[in-house]
Amino acid sequence: MVTQHLIGYRPDDPGVDEAARLLREGAIVAIPTETVYGLAANAYDETAIRRVFEAKGRPQDNPLIVHISAFEQLAPLVTEIPDEAKKLADAFWPGPLTLVLPKSDRLPDAVSAGLDTVAIRMPSHPIARAVIERSGCPLAAPSANRSGRPSPTTARHVIDDLEGRIDAVLISDDCSVGVESTVLLLADGAKRLLRPGGVTREMLESVIGPVTLDKAVLSAEVTAKVSSPGMKYKHYAPATKVVLLVGDRDAYVDYVNRSTQPCAALCFAEDAAKLRCPCLPYGSGEDEATLARGLFDALRRVDTLGVAVAYVHAPSQQGVGLAVYNRLLRAAAFDVVTL
Ligand code: TXA
Ligand code: MG
Repeated sequence: MVTQHLIGYRPDDPGVDEAARLLREGAIVAIPTETVYGLAANAYDETAIRRVFEAKGRPQDNPLIVHISAFEQLAPLVTEIPDEAKKLADAFWPGPLTLVLPKSDRLPDAVSAGLDTVAIRMPSHPIARAVIERSGCPLAAPSANRSGRPSPTTARHVIDDLEGRIDAVLISDDCSVGVESTVLLLADGAKRLLRPGGVTREMLESVIGPVTLDKAVLSAEVTAKVSSPGMKYKHYAPATKVVLLVGDRDAYVDYVNRSTQPCAALCFAEDAAKLRCPCLPYGSGEDEATLARGLFDALRRVDTLGVAVAYVHAPSQQGVGLAVYNRLLRAAAFDVVTL
């Protein structure tokens, strides 16, 4: 299959119309969003949905997020819109928040992998919004990476993973948030954070009060029936062994400099000057948003360094730091050292 390269830096670039036209006709097209690039398909088109799973090599039991561009598009997709959902949509849509709600029968079962809930989000990225509007349908879109790989935050990442496996990629700017959306379950009275992201737990709680943290966010525990199927798979992991180090700058630098194996440092920008091994600074330790933005690109570069182990300086778990920490736990297969 030949993957078309379309250009979409501005909503009026012709590539944006072309992406929307292809999607309307059943194609699978990678598009930018503010979080990560997504691999989009018409959410009502079962054949296109099946091709998304195939292109990614995604397990069939891991459901997709449906993307909308206007609040009115929500009602036909769900059987109920709880008050909390309205309040959160008011506060954070469009933006990096996904709500898991009771699913209506209109959507094919493949979208939600047979669950009776469906995940919905309204992205804020102007190109993503233009594509959804002009395609005229809600778009199911997982992250546009090969399953298990770090999510793509640049068009280059998408091409590296999916060239020849998808119909088109809409090439645009790098993603500004850098980690995937927050996923919140709002069904059967629950208010449970399944995946931390750009809309932080603190932000959610300021609107709807206490939110519980799903066990899978910070632990390897996998129950028979996980609430967010995506959390149970090996994720974000480079081929190189990754170890997550929790501690202050001196302790981190000491530990890495004493390594007896060839190593690299996925460090804070502030750590780099004192480290004696190859460094991949992924942001500033003082600003979790920069760490979120740089994380996946740094994880993708680890394997190019030819080292035995990559030591990651763990971020704080405050704000969007919790999302970064959650992804790093998985990249490190829960190998954490507290210094
Ligand atoms: O920021 C994002 O959310 C990006 C962009 C493209 O929008 N998309 C994304 O999709 O990260 P994906 O497929 O990589 O991750 C979707 C996550 C998975 O962990 C999946 O298990 C969970 O959402 N999910 C989807 N539907 C669900 C449902 N009905 N119940 C619980 N979890 C669900
Ligand atoms: Mg993903």
